[in-house]
Amino acid sequence: MDAGLEKVIAAETMLSDVDGAGGRLIIRGVLAQELAANCTFEGVLHLLWSGFFDELPSREELARELGMARVRAFTRIYPHIEAIAQQPDMQGLRLGLAFVEDGEGLVTAIDLLAMAVVVTAAASRFRRRQSLVEPDAGLSHAADFIRMSTGQIPSAAVTHAMNAYLVIVSEHGLNASTFAARVVASTRAGLASAVIAGISALKGPLHGGAPGPVLDMLDGIGSPSAARSWIDDALARKERLMGFGHRVYKVRDPRADALKAAIRTLPVSAGRLQLAEAIEQTILQKLKASKPDLNLQTNVEFYTAVLLEALGIPRQDFSCVFASARAAGWVAHAKEQLASNRMIRPKSIYVGPDVKSSVLEPA
Ligand code: ACO
Repeated sequence: MDAGLEKVIAAETMLSDVDGAGGRLIIRGVLAQELAANCTFEGVLHLLWSGFFDELPSREELARELGMARVRAFTRIYPHIEAIAQQPDMQGLRLGLAFVEDGEGLVTAIDLLAMAVVVTAAASRFRRRQSLVEPDAGLSHAADFIRMSTGQIPSAAVTHAMNAYLVIVSEHGLNASTFAARVVASTRAGLASAVIAGISALKGPLHGGAPGPVLDMLDGIGSPSAARSWIDDALARKERLMGFGHRVYKVRDPRADALKAAIRTLPVSAGRLQLAEAIEQTILQKLKASKPDLNLQTNVEFYTAVLLEALGIPRQDFSCVFASARAAGWVAHAKEQLASNRMIRPKSIYVGPDVKSSVLEPA
């Protein structure tokens, strides 16, 4: 038995390679940080999905279809937005995605990606008592999400930074949520069910629920001079410091620096970035001192928090934004699973009591 399945290889994938020792993430043959710097989210969607849908159109046509799907998604959920927004962030997202018909085709896949950003932005604005902003099919996915969420048309720099985020987190090997999505896909339940399974796994604070708490931590610490005692107290309480440690990366998560590069292009965040960097250094020193053998390093969630905050996205929405991007990878994995499917059904070892004859006796 391998608790956590860390030594188990449960799939062959051509989608990405998470090189935990080398600190590299390769997505379909390209380094993730290169994709984040140079490729649109629509481009990475095309890259991830090619070979898995017979009817996959050109990158430009896929972008157009995604834009039209955002408009469809808004019409679909508008009458239900109050009920959706009554649920907290990720539960609201799950509810919104349940309006997408299950299926294994491209229309379902595009509808899921579109619905994710539309429901994230609309539910968030409803909760903040702001009027909803309808999608603009002519904008890029990144720009339209910022516009729907903040109500402002983003600058080129903001769009670029949002795009870099969506790209860098779009795919990441057989992490907990992707595995959950593949398990569900393997039962042939459909892509919507697989993506909702992914969201349910991502929701946890050990996986995709960390970036909101990262900001709470930065706020709680407040200044570099307060970092040491705050961190000592947290570690003494056996708390986990959000945005640090990773199951696979035993060196620095390469996505952290790609996100930091994106933050640097946003002048508005300079002060916050300085604070985050100072606190990061103190945390790394403290983790090294308290767990010298584990090599706990900064993970993607730390600078995700700083970036999404700089983009004006409320912290309660961070996990939903993460899920909206990772849905690209979940769909690709679900399709890859289906391409040579064998239902995923591992075994367990029974460690309960032996059969008791007494339970067979009449009362
Ligand atoms: N802060 C303090 N201690 C930590 C941290 C942390 N961030 N991460 C791991 N540890 C400690 C654990 O307490 C444990 O110590 P112990 O053996 O004394 O109890 C030891 O390191 C090993 O921890 P595990 O949970 O076994 O390691 P695992 O590989 O499962 O952890 C995980 C990976 C869940 C990401 C962990 O590092 C963590 O909880 N980090 C904080 C939450 C976080 O940032 N999550 C986002 C991850 S990135 C992503 O999923 C997108």
